[in-house]
Amino acid sequence: PHVEAEHAAARPVEAGELVETAFAKINLALHVRERRADGYHALESLFVFTELGDRLTGRIRADGEIRLEMDGPFGPLLDGGPDNLVIRAARALQDHLGDSPGADLRLTKVLPVASGIGGGSADAAAALRLLMRLWNAPVAPQLLERITLSLGSDVPACIGSIPQMVRGRGEILQPQAMEGLSAMPILLVNPGVALSTAQVFGGWDRRDRGPLAAGGLEQLISDGRNDLEPPAMAAAPVIADVLAALKTCAGLRLARMSGSGATCFALFDTDRQMAEAAAALRAARNGWWVAETRIRAA
Ligand code: C5P
Repeated sequence: PHVEAEHAAARPVEAGELVETAFAKINLALHVRERRADGYHALESLFVFTELGDRLTGRIRADGEIRLEMDGPFGPLLDGGPDNLVIRAARALQDHLGDSPGADLRLTKVLPVASGIGGGSADAAAALRLLMRLWNAPVAPQLLERITLSLGSDVPACIGSIPQMVRGRGEILQPQAMEGLSAMPILLVNPGVALSTAQVFGGWDRRDRGPLAAGGLEQLISDGRNDLEPPAMAAAPVIADVLAALKTCAGLRLARMSGSGATCFALFDTDRQMAEAAAALRAARNGWWVAETRIRAA
């Protein structure tokens, strides 16, 4: 699906309706340090977000009900039931508020599902931001952290959707200004294989390969890793093909897998280099999802 066309076709916002973008999350580096006693892994990761994202709109319902409709290229792949992260986020917020109105929500799913770019987490965070505005019910940061972490490890970072150094399970956040990162062209490529995050973490070899230094872009490129690449590639060997294809592109600064995969990203210096890489990948590989976007500014 062509992303720009999808955005252009999106319905305009109507009166009484609010809109939020669920920005895609990219792990520029993801160092897995330790498997904790609670089964989660202690991470060090540099998160950035892209301008591209799912679109969530909502209007108030007086009867307290939460209704969700889904559309967009990946909408049909999502379950709209109680496990849906938008529904879970809305219910979690309602529980904390005690007494609140409901909402009619519409999610336009632009990002591939179960693909390592935090689509579900970003949708949950967007739902919380939207509903706090819609219901005029801001939540104090400490309480919001509890709600977000109960929804998923990446959801706390998705609330702000700015570049951040992320530690712990995903709840220790440190905004990270990095020279040259803002608005940098970033190409996203997904080969159409959905991976389970739990399964990929489960395949990590439990070898600590060292910390993630908070340096500049050059250091991130030379010393950064995604420690989940080997287990993700074992489950989906096509990831190696994606990275190999990206590495042949002119002007490439960095190609790496994001999160637990299978989406890989590539950083370029110029829009033109990115466009040429995108065209080459689309021509070579029918069926791969290829999206051109930029890193979202802090
Ligand atoms: O927190 P979330 O529900 O998004 O995580 C999905 C799965 O990914 C967890 O059940 C866990 O197996 C794994 N995970 C992990 N360590 C993290 C985050 C996620 O092991 N820091």
